[in-house]
Amino acid sequence: MLSYRHAFHAGNYADVLKHTVLVQILRYMLQKDKPICYFDTHAGAGFYDLTTEEANKTAEYHRGIELLWQERSLPQALDDYRECVKAACGEHLTAYPGSPWFAQHLLRPQDRLVLCELHPADRAQLEQTFGASKNVQCYAEDGWQKSLALVPPPERRGLVLIDPSYELKEEYGKVVEHVKQLHRKFATGVYAIWYPIADPERTAFLLRRMRSSGIKRIVQLELGVTRDHREAGMTGTGMIVINPPWNLAEVMQPALEFFARRLGPYAYSDIVELAGE
Ligand SMILES: C[S@@+](CC[C@H](N)C(=O)[O-])C[C@H]1O[C@@H](n2cnc3c(N)ncnc32)[C@H](O)[C@@H]1O
Repeated sequence: MLSYRHAFHAGNYADVLKHTVLVQILRYMLQKDKPICYFDTHAGAGFYDLTTEEANKTAEYHRGIELLWQERSLPQALDDYRECVKAACGEHLTAYPGSPWFAQHLLRPQDRLVLCELHPADRAQLEQTFGASKNVQCYAEDGWQKSLALVPPPERRGLVLIDPSYELKEEYGKVVEHVKQLHRKFATGVYAIWYPIADPERTAFLLRRMRSSGIKRIVQLELGVTRDHREAGMTGTGMIVINPPWNLAEVMQPALEFFARRLGPYAYSDIVELAGE
């Protein structure tokens, strides 16, 4: 039984990184008229009310989106991201959109969204928010298996967001094996994989496996509150992007540096090429 619920974490600094990268990838892909297909293997509920007990139990959004909310001027990538959040909740930060919401907001009628979510409550909310949209397919199915079954998409242009909770320790290895399988079927696809730094050895294992995967053109974007891993809980987070837009590192660097400064005195950001051409 799954116990992870994203409602407790919505809008935290990991979401800021993940969704800022997501927005930049989509904006780049949408510069061409040809339709794209967006896959969200672990979609969550799609939209989160920040006034609930769940969201305020640890109020993680205070150390996330809230740090950027009142800023007058932001680096371009963070400004694009914040515009999307404002489109979802208005001028007051009372709600936070999930990854499917960002994608649906940016995609055009000719594009498609494929969303997978296993938790019954989150899946019901997802269906309620997006089920009526013609270009969205929601599946109450395993996102690993479903994505593998559906690539390559007929559009031949696509982004796969892989965002597991890493509740199960084997997911650190599974994510790499899975992306290798996807990439074998759809080598030109763009892949965005989220990871936490909560157990640094497992994260290092994931990154080593990704480097030695044989896949080319991989960039890693990381943001941490501290490099001191004796701190309990999540100390950082990252995104791995395969076949990234050529300007992703360039547009994300000032954004990550800016956000790291807001996160505190020991915070850091890194952008690393894990594999070249
Ligand atoms: C980190 S959350 C997703 C957050 C979402 N992508 C976002 O950014 O707004 C992970 C979600 O994956 C769901 N999940 C776990 N295992 C799954 C599986 N095998 N297939 C599909 N969904 C799964 C969980 O119920 C949870 O809602």
